[in-house]
Amino acid sequence: MIKKIAFIVFALSSVAIGLYPIIYLFIDANFGLLSSKPEALLNNSLWNFTFYTHIYFGGLALGIGWIQFNHEFRYKNLRLHKIIGKVYTVAVLLSGFSSLYIACFATGGIIAIFGFTCLGIIWLVSTIAGYLSIKKGNIVKHQEFMIFSYAACFAAVTLRIWLPSLTVLFQDFIIAYKIVAWLCWVPNIVVAAIIVRRLQSKNV
Ligand code: HEM
Repeated sequence: MIKKIAFIVFALSSVAIGLYPIIYLFIDANFGLLSSKPEALLNNSLWNFTFYTHIYFGGLALGIGWIQFNHEFRYKNLRLHKIIGKVYTVAVLLSGFSSLYIACFATGGIIAIFGFTCLGIIWLVSTIAGYLSIKKGNIVKHQEFMIFSYAACFAAVTLRIWLPSLTVLFQDFIIAYKIVAWLCWVPNIVVAAIIVRRLQSKNV
C-alpha cells in the first residue's frame, strides 16, 4: 500500500512539473527566473533557442519517464515501453545538450554553473549508456542506467521543493539558488545508487 501511494506521488509530481514549462507560453519575459536575466541575454537568439528547447523537451522527458518504472505496465505493454523509451531518450538528448549551454549563464555564478553542468553531464551519460545497454541486449545494465537517468531528470521536481524552503531559510534567493544547483540532484543520485545496490543484491 505504501509503495503504491509513493508511486502515485512520484507519478503526479513528475507530470505536474513536466507540464510546468507550458506556463512560459503564456507569460512575458518578466516571469520567474527570466526576471533575473540581463536584457542582452533575453535578446540573444541562441540562448532563447536552447532555453526553450531545454524546458519543453525536459518537460516531455519528465512527464513520460515515470511510466517506464511501473513493472505491470512494462510487462504488459513492451511495445509501448520501447516507444516511450525512444521518445524519452531523444527528449533527454535535446534538453540535456541545451542545458549544458544555458548552464553557462545560470543565475548564481560559478557555483550554480558547475552544479547544473555536472547534472547535465550525468543526465546525458546515464541516458546514452542506458540506451546503448539495451541495444546490446543487457537488460540489467539498461535498468540500472535508466534509474540514474531518471533520478537526474527528477532534479526538476526536487529543485522546486528545495528552492522555496531554502529561500525562506536564508532570506536570500541567490544563496538558495547556489545551494539548490547541487541539492536538487546529489541526494537523488544517492537514492538511485541505493536502489541499484538493492537490485544487484537481489539478482545475485
Ligand atoms: C536533469 C538535467 C537538467 C539540467 C542540467 C537543467 C539545467 C537547467 C539550467 C542550467 C537552467 C537555467 C538556470 C539559470 O539560467 O539560472 C534550467 C532552467 C529550467 N529548467 Fe532545467 N535542467 C534539467 C532538467 C530539467 C527538466 C527535466 C525540466 C522539466 C520540467 C526542466 C525545466 C526547466 C525550467 C522550466 C527552467 C526555467 C526555470 C524555471 O522556470 O524554474 N529542467 N535548467
